[in-house]
Amino acid sequence: MAANEMREKLIEKAAEAYQKAHAPYSNYSVGAAVLADDGEIYDGINIENAVYPLTICAERVAIFKAVSAGKKKFKAIAVVTKNGGTPCGSCRQVMAEFGLDTVVYIADTSGKLIQTTTVSELLPNAFGEGDLNES
Ligand code: THU
Repeated sequence: MAANEMREKLIEKAAEAYQKAHAPYSNYSVGAAVLADDGEIYDGINIENAVYPLTICAERVAIFKAVSAGKKKFKAIAVVTKNGGTPCGSCRQVMAEFGLDTVVYIADTSGKLIQTTTVSELLPNAFGEGDLNES
């Protein structure tokens, strides 16, 4: 599949997931889709809770689904919101755990690509495994 087709497919999957978001408190739905290096796609939505801090973001749901399926390398992740919002700091850190070169597509619900970036651009000088191993 050509790179632009894959990008469109990933954004489409994130937009489909967006419809299932559970966001009754903020009314801010988010859909995500992550492309593993074997070509498999895992989607995610934000899931809010009446105990607000228990909310989890769409990006982390997608990544955790992929990781629990045994995938740890990701080519790209697409994030869809109504206004092209960017991933929060916690999600950037979780993305960084699995690779700084992962491409991040930020799109809106009309399917418009707002921004193409990478995890390293979103989280420069990220704390990682290497920091724990330095003596
Ligand atoms: N949210 C995400 O799903 N991803 C982000 O990166 C930013 C925020 C969700 C969490 C919450 O359900 C709603 O958006 C408003 O913060």
